Amino acid sequence: MRTAGPVGSGVLDAVTTRTFGTTIDRNPPRAFQLTDDLIPGKRTMSAPNKNYDPVAVTALSAAEVDRALADALAAIGAAATLDELKEARLAHDGDRAPLRLARAEIGALPPEAKAEAGRRVGAAMAAVRDAIGERQRQLERDRDEQVLVTERVDVTLPFDRTPAGARHPVTMTADRLADVFVAMGYEVAEGPEAEAEWYNFDALNIPPDHPAREMQDTLFVARPDGEPGPSGMVLRTHTSPVQIRSLLTRPLPLYVVSPGKVYRNEALDATHLPVFYQIEGLAVDEGLTMADLRGAIQAFVDALFGAGLRTRLRPDYFPFTEPSGDVSMECHVCRGESVKPGADPCRTCRSMGWIEIAGCGMVNPRVLVACGIDPDRYSGFAFGLGIERALMLAHGVNEIRDTVDGDVRFSRAFGMEI
Ligand code: DAH
Repeated sequence: MRTAGPVGSGVLDAVTTRTFGTTIDRNPPRAFQLTDDLIPGKRTMSAPNKNYDPVAVTALSAAEVDRALADALAAIGAAATLDELKEARLAHDGDRAPLRLARAEIGALPPEAKAEAGRRVGAAMAAVRDAIGERQRQLERDRDEQVLVTERVDVTLPFDRTPAGARHPVTMTADRLADVFVAMGYEVAEGPEAEAEWYNFDALNIPPDHPAREMQDTLFVARPDGEPGPSGMVLRTHTSPVQIRSLLTRPLPLYVVSPGKVYRNEALDATHLPVFYQIEGLAVDEGLTMADLRGAIQAFVDALFGAGLRTRLRPDYFPFTEPSGDVSMECHVCRGESVKPGADPCRTCRSMGWIEIAGCGMVNPRVLVACGIDPDRYSGFAFGLGIERALMLAHGVNEIRDTVDGDVRFSRAFGMEI
């Protein structure tokens, strides 16, 4: 008799109590043995139902099948991730799953019970698979929705949020000046920023008692062993030591320019920086005169301000040049007009008409001698100028601090040259 009910309920109860009851008489019970027939994968064929034991087939009872099914559905429902669902599938639909093992025992039932048991177990297994499939789809949907949220890309955002960088205006000015000289056959030479005093001062004919050596101007480097006393090293106060380094290492004739950073013990204000840039020029050859120096100076003024501005030299003093001069150029803003009586004042040249831009001179023979060069055969000229100052003049910048503030609104005005 069939009893109505959910999958697996009732049907086998009838078989075990009634059908089994009659069969027990014909086939006396014997101890159950787990034979290969009962192990999935090892079974060669289903066993004929000659001898069976109700105990052996309790796995097929409606209660057991129901329980296995309920366990499976609970585990599937509880699986919160695809991995957990995989575990649940292996446990409840895998080779060792209770329902699979139960199905393996169907062969031990009498023929009349097999169909019922088969349907019961089959229905339970199908229900498990359906539940797994449903849960699988649901978890995949959840995962996909999650991915859409976590990996969301807003295609409407601006795509280029890191603007391309650009060279600093000071670097551009230094390069532009160096390029002018490179085009005339000069080489670019570099030297260290922590420099030996001998290069920075002695070899340049700057005597030990020269005011430039004093603590107020020069940043001295401490001894590496931490002991007090002089280390013989300074942060270079100008790019002129590169003259010495070039003269000692390069063959003559020599034409070099050396842009670079220099250091002075100065407070930062509108016109001074403790760290700034200079560019040095040095030419040593046979027969060089101040006329060559004048030509070189005119070349960089033309490069920086455009051709047509006059330059002039006035006597000055630098220990490493003899004679020495300071270079001025005609004011590029008022062109000297502000000097005339009744004219508008000029802020750029302070109505002087001329602007000082560099120091220069003929290389002092003592410098040549310090570098082992015969001053009777060779002569040379040198010049040095501050790059920030040149940039400020060329672009009408009033505050030298603008060059170090790092405000891109300042730098951007110079273009995005890379
Ligand atoms: N080194 C000098 C300074 O820092 C500038 C200078 C003057 C460089 C005359 C030169 C030169 O090469 O000839 O003030």
